[in-house]
Amino acid sequence: MKFYLAFLLVILAVAVADKDDDFLWKSFKLEHGKNHSPEKELSRKQNFLKQQRKIEKHNRENNGWKMAHSRFSDMTDQEKSVVRGARMMKRKPQDNENAANFPDDVPRNIDYRANKCLQPIRDQGHCGSCWAFSAITALEFSKCKKTGVAVALSEQMLIDCDNSNSGCGGGDYTRAWQYAYDKGGAMTLASYPYVSGAINHTSVSCKFNSAAVAVNVSTYDWTYPYPNATVTMTYLQSFGPLPTTIKVLDSLFNYASGVYSDPACIVADENDVDHAVVIVGYGTTAATATAPATPYWIVRNTWGTGWGLSGYFFIRRGVNMCNIESWTAYVRVV
Ligand SMILES: *[C@@H]1O[C@H](CO)[C@@H](O)[C@H](O)[C@H]1NC(C)=O
Ligand SMILES: *[C@@H]1O[C@H](CO)[C@@H](O)[C@H](O)[C@H]1NC(C)=O
Ligand SMILES: *[C@@H]1O[C@H](CO)[C@@H](O)[C@H](O)[C@H]1NC(C)=O
Repeated sequence: MKFYLAFLLVILAVAVADKDDDFLWKSFKLEHGKNHSPEKELSRKQNFLKQQRKIEKHNRENNGWKMAHSRFSDMTDQEKSVVRGARMMKRKPQDNENAANFPDDVPRNIDYRANKCLQPIRDQGHCGSCWAFSAITALEFSKCKKTGVAVALSEQMLIDCDNSNSGCGGGDYTRAWQYAYDKGGAMTLASYPYVSGAINHTSVSCKFNSAAVAVNVSTYDWTYPYPNATVTMTYLQSFGPLPTTIKVLDSLFNYASGVYSDPACIVADENDVDHAVVIVGYGTTAATATAPATPYWIVRNTWGTGWGLSGYFFIRRGVNMCNIESWTAYVRVV
């Protein structure tokens, strides 16, 4: 009898959980406008529920940062690999002759998120164009800092025209700056809007038009020495937002808030990176009863405003988390 009762309870619990799962899945589809064909419905639901279990477990155990569903929750690993796209070149040792004159001490916090020189957060969509977005964000900021006038520039020009990078197949923001330097500038966003994010987009040929150039590149370089958080902080103060590259673990797709960190993201090989982003600030959390004060970077992503903290995320600073301190670079404009 006792055994029978226990068995019944298990069946009941499973039935309730199934109903909860159904409800969660339906709400998710509604919220993210997902409409799957009948043959894909089941595998999508399984992807979603796998993330659901990961999120529940993580939020029970980890006080430092929270996970939540995002539009990536029902995607396959292959689909999630498309929305990265950093392909960094091997670097030469450098003499750092372009280094700025740095102030003696750095501020405790910097946050460029509300700066008028920073354009709204964008979504790279179904294209590995993070490198172009990162290159453009720094150019936009640099030009605006110099002139006082905000400017929006074209990523699509780099994707279509820059053959030293690979369009939606990935690239390196420093090569993109070299391309803009050689070609004679970067065009405005209005003259060459972004179209590569559409799922059915096919690549088009370059439509460079020198009449629509708004910014010319003067010099660029990696911050030096690297990785070095203090050095990155001083460059951030002098130049503004700095493109960098990180290794993306699956957990980042479901980042919701807090200071991201994952022991699996401390990697010895600096070339173990796959996604370009932009550092726009830093700070330190106040210590609480459950967590010590934690230094963090404020980072701008290109996965839309619906992801993370309105498109941004915080990540542990000072330990080269996900290699974020290995690839910061800056650009000067004419
Ligand atoms: C892509 O698909 C959308 C919606 O089905 C359609 O409106 C658009 O014309 C398509 N674009 C291309 C480039 O095929
Ligand atoms: C950019 O460089 C080109 C070629 O040297 C020049 O004609 C143009 O005026 C420059 N534009 C800006 C905005 O600096
Ligand atoms: C970072 O760079 C600064 C300035 O060059 C140097 O004083 C400091 O020792 C470096 N820190 C590390 C951890 O290498």
